[in-house]
Amino acid sequence: MGNDLEKVLIPQDELQSKIKELAGRIDEDYAGKDLLLVGVLKGAVMVMADLARALHVPVQMDWMAVSSYGAGTKSSGVVRVLKDLDTDIMNRHVLIVEDIIDSGLTLHWLLENLKSRNPASLEICTALRKPDAVKVPIDVKYVGFDIPNEFVIGYGLDYAERYRNLPFIGTLAPHVYK
Ligand code: PRP
Ligand code: MN
Ligand code: MG
Repeated sequence: MGNDLEKVLIPQDELQSKIKELAGRIDEDYAGKDLLLVGVLKGAVMVMADLARALHVPVQMDWMAVSSYGAGTKSSGVVRVLKDLDTDIMNRHVLIVEDIIDSGLTLHWLLENLKSRNPASLEICTALRKPDAVKVPIDVKYVGFDIPNEFVIGYGLDYAERYRNLPFIGTLAPHVYK
């Protein structure tokens, strides 16, 4: 990692307490319901792992792999499905779990795709959102943190597939990608 990290934006303990707070709201909202968490690979792995363990309602977990960034730092807007769900979501209560909403293009596409499969309900939980980067407005029920429009890494978020394992959110030093 060396000096690739510019600064820590959200420390580990703040991330963890925010996830617990979101889990509390989700527990209330889905009480008595059978919840399917849909994680968006690969970025959502950390949020999914922590959120799922903080919940008390019974859940199932499934995964979709979509990618719109490749190795760059900007969303291409072209969403590629690398892995579809294993589960039929018709009449299921589905909660999409994401690490970040940046331009919103990935989720905009995913929402349309999943809606067409007729779930009983469809909501989104994201750890991070960048209000200043949004190109398509997305209605998000559960947001951890609104953050500035900087390139962030850690807690699932990568730059060229690295830094996903950092337990905090940090910003990448510009010299790494310039
Ligand atoms: C990142 C991130 C979100 C998406 C957000 O995924 O994990 O899924 O981009 O960007 P958007 O709102 O501008 O569409 P990425 O495509 O990099 O794949 P990854 O999760 O495998 O890193
Ligand atoms: Mn992603
Ligand atoms: Mg990525």
